[in-house]
Amino acid sequence: MAKLKWGMIGGGEGSQIGPAHRLGALADGMFEFAAGALDHRPDAGRKYAQRLGIAADRAYGDWQEMLAGEKDREDRIDLVTIATPNSTHFEITKAFLEAGFNVLCEKPMTMTVEEGEEIVRVAEASGTICAVNYCYSAYPMVRQARAMVRAGDIGKVRLVVTNFSHGHHGDATDADNPRVRWRYDPAMAGVSGQFADCGIHALHMACFISDDEVKSLSADMASTISSRELEDDAMVNFRTEGGAVGRLWTSSVAIGRQHGFDIQVFGETGGLRWASEQPNQLIYTPVGGRTQIIEKGEGGLHDEAQRLSRVAIAHPEGFPLAVANIYCDLADAILGKVRDGLPTPSDGVRSIAAVHAAVASSKADGAWTDARPPMFR
Ligand SMILES: NC(=O)c1ccc[n+]([C@@H]2O[C@H](COP(=O)([O-])OP(=O)(O)OC[C@H]3O[C@@H](n4cnc5c(N)ncnc54)[C@H](O)[C@@H]3O)[C@@H](O)[C@H]2O)c1
Repeated sequence: MAKLKWGMIGGGEGSQIGPAHRLGALADGMFEFAAGALDHRPDAGRKYAQRLGIAADRAYGDWQEMLAGEKDREDRIDLVTIATPNSTHFEITKAFLEAGFNVLCEKPMTMTVEEGEEIVRVAEASGTICAVNYCYSAYPMVRQARAMVRAGDIGKVRLVVTNFSHGHHGDATDADNPRVRWRYDPAMAGVSGQFADCGIHALHMACFISDDEVKSLSADMASTISSRELEDDAMVNFRTEGGAVGRLWTSSVAIGRQHGFDIQVFGETGGLRWASEQPNQLIYTPVGGRTQIIEKGEGGLHDEAQRLSRVAIAHPEGFPLAVANIYCDLADAILGKVRDGLPTPSDGVRSIAAVHAAVASSKADGAWTDARPPMFR
């Protein structure tokens, strides 16, 4: 079977997420890297794309040139990844969807709720596949956790506790470093810093595993480094549509925590725990029973987890292969197989609505605030 053709915008040399997309997209031989506009500097982007093996006529200087160059080709790309800074996601995603391309957009999908709702509508109207890169949800043991919740292994979910807290922006003497500073500058980052950057991964994960949606929230956001306009720490309490209680802490000043993304889901008859720094194990405790470690690759996993496990039990799989799982599901979806679990534009707009609700709540001393986008109220 011919490979699907894949292109990327952003993710240029030295970028944080570009390598994970390249490793992920190419891991299973489903896609070939056919086109790119990889850098905000046109020449640097063209040169880097060619060094990565893209033909000169498909190594574009910017996304508009890429859209114009690809749209009428017979062998046009089957999927484009948008891995540029946040404020550009909306216009690039919308333009490619309107031209009939399938899109994988980095999170956060948009900066505003209105833009997010627009992407949901455009994706629906275009009949294309649009996904948002909540890649942590594609770890095999996260899929196992969700399948266990769906199978009733922990009963009705009562409580979700999740953290995404690291300490990499905790050095006040480094706060003016341009790679750090923009994240706390509203002109570049929008209304929220740390919650929009990392907190939404945790919020998406809480909903993904518990198969539920956030309804309302109460937030306390703080800029612990006082020169920062946007928050570098947030505590968000939430309630779900299904009646569960949620507690979420996200921070970038938690010195000593490296990645710091973990989640616990407590139900009426059991509890589950997963941490991104030990992604191959899922901890399960049935009520009144012993705590068990469920390992990626062992027998008896749910199909969802088994099909996304690549190497034998106890052989570590990590972040790029979780991203690869998103690409596997996208390839299957493009080839007509329905794949449950791909993060959708609805997930994207729900996240950005929660971000705006959290900012409003924090400004109102933690007042409980509707966290749903108007289209889902
Ligand atoms: N899903 C995840 O776990 C995850 C992890 C990290 C970053 N991200 C997201 O990925 C996106 C990129 O983040 P990053 O940390 O890689 O940023 P980065 O600053 O390290 O890299 C951004 C890249 O995009 C290029 N670029 C900028 N504007 C462009 C434009 N208009 N056209 C083409 N290329 C352009 C830059 O030259 C650079 O190569 C952000 O939205 C971020 O939130 C997601």
